[in-house]
Amino acid sequence: MDGKKPKKTPKFPDSYIDKNADEYDNQKWMERNQRRTTILSVQYLFDEKLDNLGEINILKKRPYLILDLGCGTGFSSSILIECGFRVIGVDILPDMLNKAKEKKKNLNNYENLDLILADINYLPLKENSIDQAISISAYNFIIHDKQELNEKRKAVNNTSRYLYKILKKNGRIIIEFYPKDDKELNLFIDSFINNDFNGFVIKKSPLQKSGQTFLLLKKERWTMDHGNL
Ligand SMILES: C[S@@+](CC[C@H](N)C(=O)[O-])C[C@H]1O[C@@H](n2cnc3c(N)ncnc32)[C@H](O)[C@@H]1O
Repeated sequence: MDGKKPKKTPKFPDSYIDKNADEYDNQKWMERNQRRTTILSVQYLFDEKLDNLGEINILKKRPYLILDLGCGTGFSSSILIECGFRVIGVDILPDMLNKAKEKKKNLNNYENLDLILADINYLPLKENSIDQAISISAYNFIIHDKQELNEKRKAVNNTSRYLYKILKKNGRIIIEFYPKDDKELNLFIDSFINNDFNGFVIKKSPLQKSGQTFLLLKKERWTMDHGNL
């Protein structure tokens, strides 16, 4: 598998349990992807005007506490630790989280990483305790077991409300995910708007109908005049 990117779309939870968790963790292209996307996401998080991308300096010097939602085997959390952040990684699958725990042992500053087995929809975290949150290739799975639109709406809404509570003032969230179409994307966007977040959708092209999408969200009003949510 090393070096080659397969075409199949991942399925939750099957793609992340038993030997699929091993396979995921051993794919070098996946590690590169997750690291690259995490760095880009952190740049989005911290660059107030979104005009400084590519400047690695903005990744240094910050002792912020970042919540990694759906941390998987820890590719994203590891790069965050390397950048000097404190991190809480949350994942619902022991097969994935246990691999993150193994990686943690080899990290400098491993004491800055806490790994929690939990559901993004029911986070065991205190109000006003998190500086920023990040989620790389995981967030669309939070409605995987919901069939009806109402059920989906309720789940994403409850999760957004809770994220709002646990973030500190001016806290931000960056979500990189793969909504299957505009309808699903809007479901997620609405949940954040309904819970007083502001922010932006970032896509490769305005015509893009599905595929990789970033949501950059802030707890308080944003002052920029780019195309807001
Ligand atoms: C593609 S992996 C994420 C990869 C991760 N960013 C990394 O660096 O390895 C998706 C992860 O989302 C997790 N996940 C899916 N739904 C979840 C939920 N409701 N709560 C917590 N984790 C969830 C899965 O268990 C899986 O490990």
